[in-house]
Amino acid sequence: MDTYSFEDFVGDTDVFFTQYFDRRPLLRRGALAGRLAGLPSVRQLDDVLALETVPPSYLRVTKGGKGVPSGAYTRTVARGAALAEALNPEKVYELFRSGGTVTWNSLHHVLPSARRLREPFADAFATEAEVVVFATPARTDGFSPHHDSIDVFVVQVDGTKTWRVWDTPEHRRGDEGSYTPEELGEPALEVTLEPGDVLYVPHGTPHAAGAKSELSLHLSVGVEPRRWRHLLQDTVAALVEDDDFHAFPHLADGAEAAVAALTAKVELLRDRLARLDAADEVKRLLDTGRSRHGAGRTREFARLAAIDTLGPGTLIRRTVTPVEFGSTADGKTGLQVAGHRLNVPDAVADALRGLDGERTVTAAEFFPGVPEARSVGVARGLARLGVLEAVGAARGAAGTADGGH
Ligand SMILES: [Fe+2]
Repeated sequence: MDTYSFEDFVGDTDVFFTQYFDRRPLLRRGALAGRLAGLPSVRQLDDVLALETVPPSYLRVTKGGKGVPSGAYTRTVARGAALAEALNPEKVYELFRSGGTVTWNSLHHVLPSARRLREPFADAFATEAEVVVFATPARTDGFSPHHDSIDVFVVQVDGTKTWRVWDTPEHRRGDEGSYTPEELGEPALEVTLEPGDVLYVPHGTPHAAGAKSELSLHLSVGVEPRRWRHLLQDTVAALVEDDDFHAFPHLADGAEAAVAALTAKVELLRDRLARLDAADEVKRLLDTGRSRHGAGRTREFARLAAIDTLGPGTLIRRTVTPVEFGSTADGKTGLQVAGHRLNVPDAVADALRGLDGERTVTAAEFFPGVPEARSVGVARGLARLGVLEAVGAARGAAGTADGGH
């Protein structure tokens, strides 16, 4: 299986970062010619479409320049006692055959090849990268002139697609925007991308694309590098992360005590900034950026697939995903996980607290004092949130997950 380095896409990285990055588009003909086998393919999209754990929000269909409501390609399925929306592959194919463009967002969540594709970008920019796949049927207009708020690296995988790209404007708006042809004039670049070609489009750069006579599949890796303000916010946040900055001040209007207290804290912070080792801090910022949510090497496809087969005998353990334990009332404890708030029975909160280090427990025994099926259900729910993971089978139960690798 091919693996890719950042150089494979942009060529010499010094040249890229000094001459093109954040300045102007870059076309690299044949950069990945003959090396497409490791990238997401039409065939893998068929596989993903058949995978019922993929929520419909990953997919978008546009037709005639307009979004198709998701109800046109989903169906309702039973998930335990609850009902959920799932993709209806036949409907998706039907829309595609009749001229709809199918877009897969965050394909790296569900497809290992998309995850691998993302790694060199997450590494080079020390931040998240998003892999989106566009499948366009023959003879359709893909997207009319617009600009995106993020930097985009386009890789043509199948078929051909014609791109028009205008110069990157001197002053760019941060948001997204669209244009009429009159506003833009002649494009700086008009090119038909063929399989293996790579095109870099900096954020805020107007571009338009349309498929030629055959089906086109292209990948787009979107990156939003962190600006100075984001990096320095991170630096300051790390410097105030201790007891010296933990107390609640009372900032009353005109109170001299508050002014004096703030002055003292600013001095303390100034002192810490003055003593900052810049070389160490660059390394820390790179490390934290690379391990930010979604930037690291995780096995999301295997993880999602493993959760569905998580059975009573599956051994589970805590992941590194942080859990904040809140207050307890009426036998329930509040938890906060990756932006989700939930209330769980105290016994579940205790079980989570108890699972420290490498300790494991079977899914059936995770939630003590309730029927096995309920314990497994709770464990699956927490696994989907990324709090628990399967590490293998404890006993010969069929269908247990092969987690971990
Ligand atoms: Fe775009």
